[in-house]
Amino acid sequence: MRRICIINQKGGVGKTTTAVNLGWGLAKEGKKVLIIDLDAQGNISSCLPAESKKDLYDFLVEGADIGECISHVTDNLDVIQSKETLTKAELILVGEQSRETFLKRKLDALKHYNYDYVILDCPPSLGLLNQNAILYSYEAVIPASTDVLGFDGLKKITAAIHKINDVFGHNCMISKIVPTLFDVRNKVCVSTLKQMQSEFYELVSDPIRINAKIKEAPSVKQSIFEYDKTSRGAEDYKNLVKQVARDEKKFERLDKGGTEIKAMIKQVAMTN
Ligand SMILES: Nc1ncnc2c1ncn2[C@@H]1O[C@H](COP(=O)(O)OP(=O)(O)OP(=O)(O)O)[C@@H](O)[C@H]1O
Ligand SMILES: [Mg+2]
Repeated sequence: MRRICIINQKGGVGKTTTAVNLGWGLAKEGKKVLIIDLDAQGNISSCLPAESKKDLYDFLVEGADIGECISHVTDNLDVIQSKETLTKAELILVGEQSRETFLKRKLDALKHYNYDYVILDCPPSLGLLNQNAILYSYEAVIPASTDVLGFDGLKKITAAIHKINDVFGHNCMISKIVPTLFDVRNKVCVSTLKQMQSEFYELVSDPIRINAKIKEAPSVKQSIFEYDKTSRGAEDYKNLVKQVARDEKKFERLDKGGTEIKAMIKQVAMTN
């Protein structure tokens, strides 16, 4: 099972859009996918038709069974949604022992499910929930807007992930940096993309172009693939799905604690 957090402390860079369309695209390829909304803004349930009455707060704080909190969205795609009550969960977490690994321990419950991918849509912060997300995940996918502030944010989140890994002896690898909101006619977008590529090499995926259809799709709770499969947005996310799926062999054994593969990935990261 691949455990991926979609993370960036900077807001509005395309984290939720990436979680939804990457999850949907992988599900369409036959992978069993669970998207978990870790953001009290609850944007996942604005983007996808999630029906379950219980949510992540009920699971983390009220002791609800994880099965009651899972909504079935479409073939192979499930969701655990959140709403503003999740803010309370973060406050309660502060008083827990080993609070940074609380989510990891709770999500052990997923071992009874046969998901190929668990994708966490993270909030725009560096708070406790995101530390929990990093310490649950073996991979981080970082959407970063192709502008000056986006590049700043990218450097901050990569440093934060490395620090959390060091402090907790964890191994959450940055598996993809996804340049978002890209406009080829805009000089800043083009130069920021080049900067990303020269600093992070092949970790950088092909960019996701600005596309009005991507903005429209949540209005009918659809992924870009359902909303307009001929759009540029669908083309770009399809390509990202392919690039993430291609890494499967590299990452899928991490949850089994494969030291060999961990060493190999570490080496790849170091040469980057
Ligand atoms: N490629 C794109 N083209 C056009 N609009 C986009 C694109 N990607 C994302 N958007 C729009 O930008 C806005 C922010 O995207 P999104 O909600 O995915 O970002 P986020 O990083 O999850 O934000 P937050 O930090 O608030 O959680 C949304 O309105 C979304 O529809
Ligand atoms: Mg979001």
